[in-house]
Amino acid sequence: MALSAEDKCNVKEFWEKLGENTKVYGTEALVRTFLSFPSTKTYFSHFDLSSGSLEVQAHGKKVADALSLAVNHMDDLPKALSSLSDLHAHKLKVDPVNFKFLSHCLLVTLARHHPGNLNPEVHASLDKFLSCVASVLTSKYR
Ligand code: HEM
Repeated sequence: MALSAEDKCNVKEFWEKLGENTKVYGTEALVRTFLSFPSTKTYFSHFDLSSGSLEVQAHGKKVADALSLAVNHMDDLPKALSSLSDLHAHKLKVDPVNFKFLSHCLLVTLARHHPGNLNPEVHASLDKFLSCVASVLTSKYR
């Protein structure tokens, strides 16, 4: 699935509105993922997963920064996310289904904080964007 020029424009414009809050949203999305889909916690058994823990916050920022990088490289996601793709597939061996869970929770989080900006078109573009990111991060899974 390719992102159209309109998708890229929608995602970029929406992401710019998030400003410095991306790390807060990344953390909230992780907390929601761990609560709604508890099997995802198995990948983070070495973390303190209590809500508001510094480890979860630090990881939320890393995920958010990676997504910001992806937003800035939508024309070549495989290159921009190559090392993250190696990490998730070869080292961490994250089952692809988990990316759907995190993507869902990211969308819910963004909708909660930016209801006025997440119209149906932007929603669809963001959903496609997160699918493309997930597709790259799982492309080397087997
Ligand atoms: C939008 C999708 C995702 C993005 C953008 C993302 C991004 C990242 C980033 C930036 C790191 C840190 C890499 C580093 O420190 O060099 C990371 C690590 C990690 N990710 Fe993901 N990730 C995603 C999805 C997932 C999913 C779905 C899981 C499993 C449920 C997962 C499990 C992990 C684990 C276990 C680590 C290592 C944590 C640690 O020990 O510090 N990731 N991810």
